[in-house]
Amino acid sequence: DKLVALVPAAGIGRRMGADKPKQYLPLTEHCILGETLARLLAHPAISEVVVALAAEDPYFDDLAQASHPKLRTVIGGDERADSVLACLAAVNPDIAPWVLVHDAARPLITAGDIDAVVKAARAGQGAILAAPLVDTIKWSQDGKRIEETVPRQHLWRALTPQCFPTGALRLALSEALAEGASITDEASAMERLGWPVTLVKGRNDNIKITEPADLPLARWLLSQQES
Ligand code: CTP
Ligand code: MG
Repeated sequence: DKLVALVPAAGIGRRMGADKPKQYLPLTEHCILGETLARLLAHPAISEVVVALAAEDPYFDDLAQASHPKLRTVIGGDERADSVLACLAAVNPDIAPWVLVHDAARPLITAGDIDAVVKAARAGQGAILAAPLVDTIKWSQDGKRIEETVPRQHLWRALTPQCFPTGALRLALSEALAEGASITDEASAMERLGWPVTLVKGRNDNIKITEPADLPLARWLLSQQES
């Protein structure tokens, strides 16, 4: 059975504050989105990549990957979850029972991490890459005074890719959106329905490029991957 990768790439990159959406900023010989797509398209287990773009995106067609035979595009939505749902609408669950959702803004994804999350997902009912927290965690109501220190040993940061059964994820995301739940990743939509989601410890270099300082950091991490 087939595995399809879904790539939400319809964001505006507000926190990056560049003159174009961050996924189109230069990173390697490719822009951020180009590098992400190149890695997903090169993975032998991924049969197709569905990318959600902003309506009237003027940049995508210039990508080297734009006309790759394994690639399809759809129009994204207002929130990340809307964009993922738009991708899901283009996938037939009978042909592709599993999907792998991966942020355009995480171009450092490796084949090894993809393999690990897919394997764990198929061994259960879904899995995500995640990282344990390293800092001491404080809880504050007003952002000024600390109420308490939260034990960090059970806390994880959710990364992508996140891998789930196609039909179940579609149901979970549409229900969450219909009920106005705040959904910032796929796992949270599945958790709401009581689905067991497996944590897979991912690589530390799989950062989400979010702020200007993340660009030189990503380039350095890339140089370390290559050496
Ligand atoms: N995304 C999307 N559709 C949206 C919002 C975000 O497809 N309506 C995508 C982004 O393009 C990105 C991924 O979801 O690849 C993760 O989102 P984030 O890092 O927050 O990107 P932006 O929303 O573009 O950045 P910001 O929040 O700073 O505006
Ligand atoms: Mg965002």
